Amino acid sequence: MTATPEPRTPDRPPADIVFDHVVKRYPGQETPAIDDLSLTVRAGETCCLVGPSGGGKTTAMKLVNRLIDFDSGDITIGGRSIRSVDVTSLRRDIGYVIQQVGLFPHMTIAANIAVIPNLLGWSGDRIRARTDELLDLVRLDRAFAKRYPAQLSGGQQQRVGLARALAVDPPVMLMDEPFGALDPITRTEIQDEFLNLESEIDKTVIFVTHDIDEAIKMGDRIAVLRQGGVLAQYGTADGLLAHPADDYVADFVGADRGLKRLSLRTMREIVAPDGLPDDGSGPSVDADASLRIGLSTLFAAGTDSVRVTDGDRVLGRVSLAQLQGAVSGSTV
Ligand SMILES: Nc1ncnc2c1ncn2[C@@H]1O[C@H](COP(=O)(O)OP(=O)(O)O)[C@@H](O)[C@H]1O
Ligand SMILES: [Mg+2]
Repeated sequence: MTATPEPRTPDRPPADIVFDHVVKRYPGQETPAIDDLSLTVRAGETCCLVGPSGGGKTTAMKLVNRLIDFDSGDITIGGRSIRSVDVTSLRRDIGYVIQQVGLFPHMTIAANIAVIPNLLGWSGDRIRARTDELLDLVRLDRAFAKRYPAQLSGGQQQRVGLARALAVDPPVMLMDEPFGALDPITRTEIQDEFLNLESEIDKTVIFVTHDIDEAIKMGDRIAVLRQGGVLAQYGTADGLLAHPADDYVADFVGADRGLKRLSLRTMREIVAPDGLPDDGSGPSVDADASLRIGLSTLFAAGTDSVRVTDGDRVLGRVSLAQLQGAVSGSTV
């Protein structure tokens, strides 16, 4: 087990990322890959970019760190056009994590993490200290530093990829289906850890996924692209689930969007102090459980209300009608 890292103050504050009427056309393609994309990712937020395969997600991402050039419009980070910044320093300020991880196989984990610090001429001591700190942050034992990528599982390699992207504490992170190749259990684990880590590090993140559930879990806001790189809707998960802009978005977020909304709120949020009196009967759920868990508990027990507890305290009871009201209500 490794120690929980102390929260750190970032060297550089997070910055807004703004796409301003961006168009990208690949040579020989009839339709643009990105078509008039305008989108603001607020400083410190995670924007999940979702859409169909070929919808332009990877292209949008690569425009930001200038692996690809756009044809018109502009992209700014912290108010500065990325075209006005030297490309090397631009990329140094952007952590990039991809599904294929891309670790150098002949280099140890420590050497892989130290690639950019080395380029920046950090001292050996500073690099070693930072490597230990990063391994702690991504919950990998420090002993992994001396191993080679092939000696690690896929999930462990992905953690190293994350550590490497965080090495010089960039204010911006681009993550392209970072957990897409992992098995469901490892994936859930690493998602939870990234969420936890994100509460400690303050960064502006663009996170690409084709999985709406992952987007709902990871994103402060979700941008839905449609084929041809056109923005279909941009909003919070609850906003998209409650008010999809059109049939395409409704279809994309899923016919079970009402149930998905239940995952976004906790029992604590809807249990009213002056609600149903507790008669001590039936099942109970933790206050921090989602409404979805509450509903499931209620169904499993065959009752029409459930007791909500916080440790030893009973906060009250929530009825089926209240749960129903929480999904059908239009609180966004
Ligand atoms: N290097 C390229 N040359 C030509 N077309 C490309 C290139 N890269 C991607 N495309 C096309 O651009 C569109 C968007 O691709 P991409 O950004 O990879 O989508 P996504 O990541 O959403 O699957 C697709 O139609 C794809 O075929
Ligand atoms: Mg892609």
